[in-house]
Amino acid sequence: MKTILVTGSNGLLGQKIIYALRNRSDVKCISTSRGENRMREKSGYIYESLDITDAQAIEELFLKYRPDSVINTAAMTNVDACETNRDDAWKMNVTAVDYLIDACKKIDAHLVHLSTDFVFDGRNGPYVETDEANPLSFYGHTKYEAEKRLMASGLHWAILRTIIIYGVLDDNSRSNVVLWAINSIRSKKTITVINDQFRSPTLAEDLADACISASLKKAEGIYHVSGMEVMNILDIVKIVAEFFDLDQQYIQPISSESLKQPAVRPPVTGFIIEKAVRELDYHPHTFIEGLSYLKKQLELVVK
Ligand SMILES: NC(=O)c1ccc[n+]([C@@H]2O[C@H](COP(=O)([O-])OP(=O)(O)OC[C@H]3O[C@@H](n4cnc5c(N)ncnc54)[C@H](OP(=O)(O)O)[C@@H]3O)[C@@H](O)[C@H]2O)c1
Repeated sequence: MKTILVTGSNGLLGQKIIYALRNRSDVKCISTSRGENRMREKSGYIYESLDITDAQAIEELFLKYRPDSVINTAAMTNVDACETNRDDAWKMNVTAVDYLIDACKKIDAHLVHLSTDFVFDGRNGPYVETDEANPLSFYGHTKYEAEKRLMASGLHWAILRTIIIYGVLDDNSRSNVVLWAINSIRSKKTITVINDQFRSPTLAEDLADACISASLKKAEGIYHVSGMEVMNILDIVKIVAEFFDLDQQYIQPISSESLKQPAVRPPVTGFIIEKAVRELDYHPHTFIEGLSYLKKQLELVVK
């Protein structure tokens, strides 16, 4: 039986990984996140509170469970907050990764680390794994710095870069582009939506499967793991509105320049996912299939 330890398990991706791992007979699943466990289902795995900015706590826990593989989903993920609060972003997205690397070394564990399309400048998307990174934002800079530290670590590691994760969380503690569009329009709130940036939205469950596959195979190297369609963000929101039968008059297009967000975003990302398909058995849903999946989950949450 393999032991897999997941960090940030209260987050969107973390929750999906735990749901996919719990009750598996071939995996002992150690779920960790900051503070209390906020998942609805609490059986089929072990939960330990773990703040990954605490090096000693990481080491103690890793020595206690000796995981074969660690999946690090914990991060400071709010791009604008990273831009304005750089010390915290660095501590969480770079220094904490150093701590995880050191602890993995002590027990010879494999490390799966999550990264982002924001390591690219968005001038030449969609991207393959070997394309040159050139982050525009501080968030992208921290995530790229962590990648470099992993690459130089001498550990067995896999970096899974992803793009706009969407899905439903047990405790509704986080939003994403799809939930934001649904909830805003349903409450008759006009939303301004960027019309000059292109992305590949990624169903959280698909990404969770790729993380588990990378972990069980002890995959090595960088993998691009996203949805397969590259779409204008405005079109993503319009498709959501149409799918959920929402009034499109609440959607107000806006250019990146007019929106003036603190962090600069890459204009066109999107990934070529062939390596993940080949090596991780990654077969993502289409965006419409992902929305059908999410719709069923939302109905369950309402019940
Ligand atoms: N979301 C996206 O669209 C996107 C796009 C590209 C890449 N990524 C990358 O994918 C990964 C997963 O993203 P996600 O959307 O699942 O993130 P998320 O929902 O924001 O989850 C991150 C989790 O990390 C936890 N966390 C924060 N600080 C912590 C600490 N010091 N110690 C332990 N846990 C801590 C958070 O806890 P609390 O819930 O208590 O705050 C949260 O549950 C991240 O590495 C992110 O950079 C995400």
